[in-house]
Amino acid sequence: MAIKPIKARPVNNHVIDVITPLAIEFHTSDFWFGESLGRVILVTNYPSRVRIGWLSRIANMEGVTCSIHLTPANPSKLIENLDKSIGELGGRLNGGGSALMLQRAEQQYKDANKLLQKIDQEQENVFYVTVAIMVSAKDKEELERKGKKIESALAGSKMKGRTAMFKQEEALQAVSPYGHCPQAIKDIASRNMPVSTIAGAFPFNSSGLNDGQGYIFGKDQNGGIVLIDPWIRGGDRTNSNWTILGAPGVGKSATVKHIFLNEYSQGTKIIIIDPEREYKDLCENLNGQWINCGGGAGGLINPLQVKDVPNDETIETKDNLLYKDEGNGMGALALHFQTLRTFFKLYLKDLDDMAQATLEEVLEELYKIHDIVWATDTSRIPNEQYPVLRDLYNLMNEKAKEKGTATMRERYEKLATLLRRSAIGADSALWNGHTTIEVKSDFIVLDTHDLQESDDTIKRTQYFNILTWAWQQLSKNREEKVLLGVDEAYLIVDPEVPRALQFLRNVSKRIRKYKGGLAVITHSVIDFLDPTVRRHGQALLDDPCFKFFMGTDGKNLEELTKIMNLTEAEQEMLAKKKRGHGLLIAGSKRLHAKVELADHEVKLFGKGGGN
Ligand SMILES: Nc1ncnc2c1ncn2[C@@H]1O[C@H](COP(=O)(O)OP(=O)(O)OP(=O)(O)O)[C@@H](O)[C@H]1O
Ligand SMILES: [Mg+2]
Repeated sequence: MAIKPIKARPVNNHVIDVITPLAIEFHTSDFWFGESLGRVILVTNYPSRVRIGWLSRIANMEGVTCSIHLTPANPSKLIENLDKSIGELGGRLNGGGSALMLQRAEQQYKDANKLLQKIDQEQENVFYVTVAIMVSAKDKEELERKGKKIESALAGSKMKGRTAMFKQEEALQAVSPYGHCPQAIKDIASRNMPVSTIAGAFPFNSSGLNDGQGYIFGKDQNGGIVLIDPWIRGGDRTNSNWTILGAPGVGKSATVKHIFLNEYSQGTKIIIIDPEREYKDLCENLNGQWINCGGGAGGLINPLQVKDVPNDETIETKDNLLYKDEGNGMGALALHFQTLRTFFKLYLKDLDDMAQATLEEVLEELYKIHDIVWATDTSRIPNEQYPVLRDLYNLMNEKAKEKGTATMRERYEKLATLLRRSAIGADSALWNGHTTIEVKSDFIVLDTHDLQESDDTIKRTQYFNILTWAWQQLSKNREEKVLLGVDEAYLIVDPEVPRALQFLRNVSKRIRKYKGGLAVITHSVIDFLDPTVRRHGQALLDDPCFKFFMGTDGKNLEELTKIMNLTEAEQEMLAKKKRGHGLLIAGSKRLHAKVELADHEVKLFGKGGGN
C-alpha cells in the first residue's frame, strides 16, 4: 500500500511575527527578550514533606512563568538505585557521627524506604520532575528585585532556586511552551518524585475563583486568577446581578468599566446610567452611543409615553409582578399610571392625596384625547402620538377656566402652577416633548451630568425616568444579554417616595428572566438602609449573586458588617481602602480580590473618573 506523504503546512509568518520577540540576546544569568529582560531560575532542592498545592504559591506569583517537566522514570533502575542508597544510608547510621548528621541520614533513610515501598509494593509511578521559573522585568534593577523575591519565596517553601548560569538559552527553551526540556537543564534540576506528590504540586488548585470561562475579574490575595462568568446560572448562582460598594475614589467606576468592557467584548449589550460623566470617554472610544439626558436634544424621554411593562402570563406570578400590589392582566396604561404616580411624587413632592387624584383624572382625560384608553395596546403607538407635559399643562389650565366649584378651580390652578416648570419653564428641556432617544448601539451611556447643579429632586426624578426607559429597552427582548449599570444609585433613594427604590428593586428581581443583569453601584449603604426604604434597599444589596465590597469606613462599614456578617479580617481589609481591592462574593464563594487594569483598558477608559 502506498503511503501518503504528509504535507508540510505552510508557515504563517504574520502570526510568528506577532508572537515572537523582535530579538533575543543571552547573557550569563539573564537575557533580553524583545523589550524585556528575563531570567530563568531552576528549582534544585525540594522539601522532604510537602502540602497540597506546594508549588501554587510560586507559580501564581506576579510576573512569573512556570514550567513543570515530567519524565517517566525507569522503575527497575530506580529500585536498584534506591536499594543502593538505602544500604549506604543504613551503613552511615550504624557508623555513628554528629547528632545533626545522624538526624539527616535517618530522615533520608526513612524517605528512601517510603519511596521504595511506594514503587515496589504500591506500584506507584515515579517521574523525574524539573521546574523552571522565568521572571521578566523592564530593567536590571527590577529583575534583581523580582529574582530575589522568587528565591526567598522558594526558601519560604523549603525549596531552593538557582539561576541557570551560562545556561539561559536552554533554560528559556525549558520554560517556553514547546513541551521540551533540554538535557542540560534536566541534569541540573531534575528530581524523582512519586506521582501523588507531583499531583499535589499543581498550581491550578489555588484558592482563586475559576469558572473556566468568562473574563478575568482580577486576582486573589495570593496572585491566583479570578476568572468569572456571571452568566452561569445554577447551584448558588441564581442571577447575574452585581452590587458594587465603596467609598469615593476606591475604584468602583473603574471596576464597573472593567466588567462592562469585558462583557461588551463578549457580546453583552450595555446600558449605563451615569450621573457623574464617568463613562463618556469609554463610550466614545468604543464607538458606543452617548446620550445627554440632562437636557440634551437627543436625550429626551417623555414621561407620559407608556413604557410597556411586559405581562407574560406564563412567566409572571403574583410575586414577581413589577408592581406587586397590582393584579395580573392589567393593561399597559394602567401599569404606567403607577410609574406616573412615582414620577410626579418625586417631582412635585408635596402633592396631597386630593391633588394626586385630580392629577390622575386629568391625565386619564388627556390620554383619552390622544386615543389611548385602558384597553389600548400601546406597543405599536408611535412616540408622536403620546401627549407631552405641555399638553397636560394646557389641559389643566383649561379645566381651571371651566365652570365648577371654587375648590376644584383652585386645585386645577395649583396643579397648573406646579406643572408649569416642566411644561414651559426651566425643566421643560428635560421632560416636555416626545421621546427622542433612538437606540443605535449596543453600548449606551445615559448621562445626566448637566443636572449637577440642579437640586436633588430634579436629579432623582430624571434618574427614575431614565430607569423606566432602560427597563423598557431591557424587557423588549428576552433573548438578548443586557447588563444595566446604575452608578451613584443612592441618588434614586427618596425616603418620602420609597416606590422609586422599589422600582429598582423590582428590576433587580425580574431582570434575570430577561437574560439580563443589573449592576448597582453606590458609595452609600446607609441611604439604602434608611428605615423608610430598607425593605427594598437591603434586598437590592443582598440579592445580587455577585458583590464587590470595596474600601469603606465609618457608618457604612458598620452597616455592611451587620448585613454581610463581615469577619474582622474582612473589615480590616475594607477599612484600609486600598484602590482596586475588595471583598468579592460570587454565589457562596467569598474572597479578597484585586482588580488589575490592563494598559489597553486604562487607555479605553479615558479621563472619566478622576484620571
Ligand atoms: N484597580 C485599579 N487600578 C489602578 N487604578 C485604579 C483602579 N481602580 C481605580 N483606579 C483609579 O482610581 C481613580 C478613582 O477611581 P474611580 O473613579 O473608579 O473611583 P470611584 O470609587 O468610582 O469614585 P467615586 O465614588 O468618586 O465615583 C481613577 O483615576 C481610576 O483610574
Ligand atoms: Mg465612580
